Amino acid sequence: MASPSSPSPSDLSAYWMPFTANRDFKAHPRMLVSAEGMYYRDDAGNAVLDGTAGLWCVPLGHSQPRIVSAVQKAVATLDYAPSFQMGHPAAFELADRLRDYTGGRFSQIFFTGSGSESVDSALKIALGYHRARGEPTRTRFIGRERGYHGVGFGGMSVGGIPGNRKTFHASLLPGVDHLQHTHDLTRNAFSRGVPQHGAELADELERLVTLHDASNIAAVIVEPVSGSTGVLIPPVGYLKRLRDICTKHGILLIFDEVITGFGRLGTPFAYDYFDVMPDMVTTAKGVTNGVVPMGAVMVQPHVYDAFMHGPAGIELAHGYTYSGHPLACAAGLATLDIFEQDGILEHAQSVVEYWHDAAFALRDAPNVIDIRAIGMVIGIELAPRAGQPGARAFEAFRRAFADGLLIRVTGDIIALSPPLVIEKAQIDELFDKLGKVLRNLD
Ligand SMILES: Cc1ncc(COP(=O)(O)O)c(C=O)c1O
Repeated sequence: MASPSSPSPSDLSAYWMPFTANRDFKAHPRMLVSAEGMYYRDDAGNAVLDGTAGLWCVPLGHSQPRIVSAVQKAVATLDYAPSFQMGHPAAFELADRLRDYTGGRFSQIFFTGSGSESVDSALKIALGYHRARGEPTRTRFIGRERGYHGVGFGGMSVGGIPGNRKTFHASLLPGVDHLQHTHDLTRNAFSRGVPQHGAELADELERLVTLHDASNIAAVIVEPVSGSTGVLIPPVGYLKRLRDICTKHGILLIFDEVITGFGRLGTPFAYDYFDVMPDMVTTAKGVTNGVVPMGAVMVQPHVYDAFMHGPAGIELAHGYTYSGHPLACAAGLATLDIFEQDGILEHAQSVVEYWHDAAFALRDAPNVIDIRAIGMVIGIELAPRAGQPGARAFEAFRRAFADGLLIRVTGDIIALSPPLVIEKAQIDELFDKLGKVLRNLD
């Protein structure tokens, strides 16, 4: 076993790492060996402040003792239970608790194993919904440029990241359109909170409806705030306009809240923050505090009800071996307990201004061309080096890690999304370290 002070015994060659430059990593590895609270520890024993909540998935901080003990208890009691035609109490309990967490607005919860599975499940539910209601021609999906919806073929197809699509383009789903992204540095740079300009971009949906006819369109899927492509915050009024156009034409609206769910904006979900209700929400990550893989699709009553009037038998021919896994359910229940008992959202709200102030203090750092902030998320966009897109931010990532800070970069954008339990002293530490990195970067 590796310990914080001993080097890894592996030569690193067997593990094909996801979304990683394998050759570069294996030449210059960055190894995390333990985690507690706001900090990782690397294999040299250094503390690394977690500025990204892992991969946006650890809102309550690491090794939360109540989650650890809930999972330990679960594994010793019911390690696995089949999810097809069988149930176990914790899955029903977690679905009830999630329904309550949404104030009852999402009445049924379909469990998956990840965000990608949640997205593909939601797209299938949208097709099944229209078919069940006698509108089987509604099959088209509309996503958005710079959207990330995971790596299943459905999610990739509605996603809008050129690099993720290029290799697979011939096998993407047919019948998918994309709205224009909303990122507009000319009009909205250095917006604090929701930017002012761009609500009219939602009207493009009307153009697509005219082109294809509403009777052929199943659903629109967007992230309320795009995380993975660099913290793209929707302009004021934009999501409401999308909602109105979808409602007018009988199109389902799906919010992909894999990142924004579970408090990232200081509210339970982003739909609370924006006060715009989608028909379905996809989620994952924070649902178990990242401890055991799990995702979920949460649906409004009309979506579930549409399936419940057909012939007897299986209503939706879809599901996963690990849907509602007992360990994930135990972690999910403990996570919801802690959100409620420890006032996690209240804590996040109490530090959010401080968090934004600290970020905007970097406004004059070299190469910074935008800072954007919403809830407990910050995006800092750097000017790219000539002919080397992404190189400047990646160097910032490397240097920050060497200095004991984990940040996330995408292109030349730094995304910060710490555990929601971050304290002001840790916010100071984070921006001290990041400020030094940026000031010393050419
Ligand atoms: C908005 C969104 N959807 C889907 C996914 C995919 O989730 P997973 O990596 O759990 O499959 C992500 C992952 O970051 C995401 O941010």
